[in-house]
Amino acid sequence: MTTPALTSLPAWVALTDEARVMADTPMRALFAAAPERFSAFSRRLGPLLVDYSKHRITATTLELLIGLAKARDVEGGRAAMFAGKHINTTEDRAVFHVAMRNMSDRAMTVDGRDVMTDVRATRKRLKDFSDAVRNGTRKGATGKPIRHIVNIGIGGSHLGPMFVADALKDYQRDDLTVDFVSNPDRAQLDEVLKGKDPAETLFTISSKTFTTAETTANANAARAWLVNALGDAAVRHHFAAVSVNLKAAGAFGIDADVVFPMWDWVGGRYSVWSAIGLPVILACGYEVFEQFLKGAEEVDRHFETAPLSENLPVIMAMLGIWYADFFDAPALAVLPYDHRLKLLPAHLQQVDMESNGKGVILDGSPIATTGPIVFGSGGSDSQHSFFQLLHQGPALIPCDFLVALKGADKDSRELLLANAIAQTEALMRGRTHSEVVGTPEPLKAHRSFPGNRPSTTLLLDALTPHSLGMIIALYEHKVFVQGLIWGINSFDQWGVELGKELATSLLPALRGEKPAEGRDSSTAGLVAAYRATLSG
Ligand code: F6P
Repeated sequence: MTTPALTSLPAWVALTDEARVMADTPMRALFAAAPERFSAFSRRLGPLLVDYSKHRITATTLELLIGLAKARDVEGGRAAMFAGKHINTTEDRAVFHVAMRNMSDRAMTVDGRDVMTDVRATRKRLKDFSDAVRNGTRKGATGKPIRHIVNIGIGGSHLGPMFVADALKDYQRDDLTVDFVSNPDRAQLDEVLKGKDPAETLFTISSKTFTTAETTANANAARAWLVNALGDAAVRHHFAAVSVNLKAAGAFGIDADVVFPMWDWVGGRYSVWSAIGLPVILACGYEVFEQFLKGAEEVDRHFETAPLSENLPVIMAMLGIWYADFFDAPALAVLPYDHRLKLLPAHLQQVDMESNGKGVILDGSPIATTGPIVFGSGGSDSQHSFFQLLHQGPALIPCDFLVALKGADKDSRELLLANAIAQTEALMRGRTHSEVVGTPEPLKAHRSFPGNRPSTTLLLDALTPHSLGMIIALYEHKVFVQGLIWGINSFDQWGVELGKELATSLLPALRGEKPAEGRDSSTAGLVAAYRATLSG
């Protein structure tokens, strides 16, 4: 259970009673009783159709969930975000990625200042720079055009742009490759650089802080590779950077005219809309990126203005709360039935788990249930790996299916759609003992399925930059609303700090510069095992 402030709310108490009823209500029966269920529990937003009819809900359940959202002042939290208030209280910052995709002339104000002047100026610089690289006006040090973009970053400075660039591969040119390096294991950088001509390669160093150890190590290695081939003077032609820390980027040797700013009010996992999108812009062109921003903007307007009961991010958030808090669901499976969306689960893992993987509410007191374990991978491959657990494992794991109605090949699209829709049906229906025919009694238990497993289906008319922007923004706002319900700060990530600090202090012990004194015997033993390989 969770904090008393939440559990004592009348809306919460009513939902507890409702959960008892719904636990014994098969969705099959709900569908049989109401043929109009699909139209009652699905909504269209532009090119996106969201079907949430295969959930353990009735109109009453949804009304109660929306009542809880109202009681937790989701409307107030939403308004505070769009007003640029410092809702990231533990870091005393605004949370303003919505400004990055504001394409209108509306002012977006933080601390009394309209940030849109800086945002627009940066967009213009990104456009000019990427146009120049793409049309060959801006060349490498030897005069050769740039043919390879290599982004170096990690976390939000990697997962978002890598996912978006991969999803928009059909918008890329054959003569300009884009790669992403995040792992400090040199094997990744070596693999990416293999066969590339330094004279045709442009590195984008993406780091909000410009102090992240993995990114610094890879950036230094990339620089050494380039300098080895072309000399120090070439660095300014082959590196660009995105950071809040303009000074550190300059100190690395990157010219100010190719250092693109971001701001502390753009969180790393929400930064793909900012200059962190540079590798996407270079790979796909600025106009494509603008369509992507416009898709997110469409969701922002919907989220900001639609009543809670019709608000898709709010509905998706409250369905997540329903299962996490009232049915002990530990996880959420994200299942894109589209090869181009295969990296969505990885991106959403950071968006959701780094945001809502918290154990205390704003006043510092503990909370038992917060964000789900997010996992998933592309369908229908995943049907042949972990779906068994989704269908017959004892845990209730809600699923999000994503699939586009149009794609390159009609036959393969129909196969994908058939598989995706059939899975939602199988999860919902299950198969009773009596439906298992031609099977001896002892095997019936093995061949029957409990069913009543919830899923949401997000149908895209087609995967375009616009619909892609919509999907990501939808999940971002969903995560935000869930944080408001739980009363946690979705915008800090102190939990990753301890490991970073300990790694920094372990490095000298691994290098033999300091003994691993004061560490537990396991940690010291592991360090000693490495040291032994050096002397052996
Ligand atoms: O993993 C923690 C984190 O701070 C993420 O939130 C962030 O996206 C990532 O590290 C990378 O940080 P930076 O962009 O500053 O290098």
